[in-house]
Amino acid sequence: MSDIPPVCDYEGSDYQARFWQGQGREYEDRVERIALRRFMPPTGGTLIEIGAGFGRLADEYKGYDRVVLFDYSRSLLREAQAHLGDDPRYIYVAGNWYNMPFVDGLFDTMVQIRTLHHAADAPALFTELARIACPDGDYILEFANKHNLKAMARYWAKKQEWSPFEQEPIEFVELNFDFHPRWIEARLQESGFRTGDKLTVSHYRFAPLKKAFPTKFLVAMDRLAQKTGNLWQLSPSVFLHNKHPQTAVSPLSPAAFFACPSCKTALNDEENGRLHCPSPSCGHSWGVKDGLYDFKSHE
Ligand SMILES: C[S@@+](CC[C@H](N)C(=O)[O-])C[C@H]1O[C@@H](n2cnc3c(N)ncnc32)[C@H](O)[C@@H]1O
Repeated sequence: MSDIPPVCDYEGSDYQARFWQGQGREYEDRVERIALRRFMPPTGGTLIEIGAGFGRLADEYKGYDRVVLFDYSRSLLREAQAHLGDDPRYIYVAGNWYNMPFVDGLFDTMVQIRTLHHAADAPALFTELARIACPDGDYILEFANKHNLKAMARYWAKKQEWSPFEQEPIEFVELNFDFHPRWIEARLQESGFRTGDKLTVSHYRFAPLKKAFPTKFLVAMDRLAQKTGNLWQLSPSVFLHNKHPQTAVSPLSPAAFFACPSCKTALNDEENGRLHCPSPSCGHSWGVKDGLYDFKSHE
């Protein structure tokens, strides 16, 4: 597992309290849910949310048989576990998205919201997601759009050096990137995904507007504006509905679920709180504790 890009580590962070609880972001939460519902099949077999954090959106996945909440932060996953209780459909998995601990072709639906901005190597992430997507699977991706009106105004007013029109990602703070829609689409295509419909989201994420108008009104306005995403993308947040082609790999075996993140061999069933890699040249084992599968470090 060498040459892995750096990770923005949320272990032990107060992200939920600091960013969401009573922080005036009900508008953002609601418009993201509207976009997600527009793209995500409401029911299905196995879904994964990549970078699920404390499970803010987990209640959207109730129509799925199995829901993997995947994140690098064990502590945020424990928060998710605490509020979702012991619903057996939810599976909590800690690991790094550049080395996913799942067999090929496993997931019908993959969701990624508010996390791509931490990807120092988005193409490597997309390649890994293409591996674990099932044939014709759905990948709903939200990303922070550098090509937005506020960035353009700041650039023209010379308050910002970087150009929102250049396609390369901009790292505006260490391990925080904004992306150009055309760059993202091209990288997705290179990894085998086909991008279909687009939604522009959070058009009214502007403090004076949020102060002047009721949230309900701004949410209704955003709902109307989202569909202009197929024409142009000028909002700070963009949702893409991607499909993986029919030719994507099928699951190795219907029973297999976890794979060794080091060598990708399907893992044996849990034994004494560990999952063992049966490959003689690897032999790593991974811990399972209090319902959390931990692929961050091995023995
Ligand atoms: C801003 S939070 C968003 C959480 C959630 N998607 C939401 O909208 O509430 C970003 C999340 O991405 C996770 N993350 C960042 N880099 C990661 C990586 N390399 N592998 C897995 N998760 C990662 C962080 O741990 C964090 O929980």
